[in-house]
Amino acid sequence: MGKTSKDKRDIYYRLAKGEGYRARSAFKLFAYRRRDSISSMVNTTLTLCAAPGSWSQVLSEKLYDSSVTDETVKIVAVDLQQMAPLPGIIQIQGDITKESTAKEIIHHFEGSKADLVVCDGAPDVTGLHDLDEYIQAQLLLAALNITTHVLTMGGTLLPR
Ligand SMILES: C[S@@+](CC[C@H](N)C(=O)[O-])C[C@H]1O[C@@H](n2cnc3c(N)ncnc32)[C@H](O)[C@@H]1O
Repeated sequence: MGKTSKDKRDIYYRLAKGEGYRARSAFKLFAYRRRDSISSMVNTTLTLCAAPGSWSQVLSEKLYDSSVTDETVKIVAVDLQQMAPLPGIIQIQGDITKESTAKEIIHHFEGSKADLVVCDGAPDVTGLHDLDEYIQAQLLLAALNITTHVLTMGGTLLPR
């Protein structure tokens, strides 16, 4: 059975499509929310490795809905791949392990640090386990490095 037909049988795939989310990973973020990792005080977020954008969709629904004024909300989404636009979301296309991308991200949080940083980074697997683990670790390290520059005191980092 091919990958596509397997995905179509997946309950979260079908739920995501039914509810208009771009990916089934939306439900991973809902699970974090249920565990209260994302407090209701969050206004400013950075979403690393964000394509196709389901986490950004969930955050956008929550933040724009619960904020006193939309002006206090900021959501920055970054990915290697181009993402289709989402209203109210600043998008950056770039590799988070590159200094130039890190600088561009940090620039967006000057003066208004992030309450929450989420990272769902997953490289294309090569099947060479040592290499795959190394690349995954590099993503985590890059996320941590960027987080040290943008996260507000007492803020939350939610890594994959
Ligand atoms: C599981 S997907 C993320 C799904 C996302 N959470 C959502 O809700 O749509 C993993 C993403 O990590 C991205 N990625 C992998 N390596 C990256 C890197 N070095 N820099 C930026 N993004 C990267 C991939 O392009 C891919 O879109």
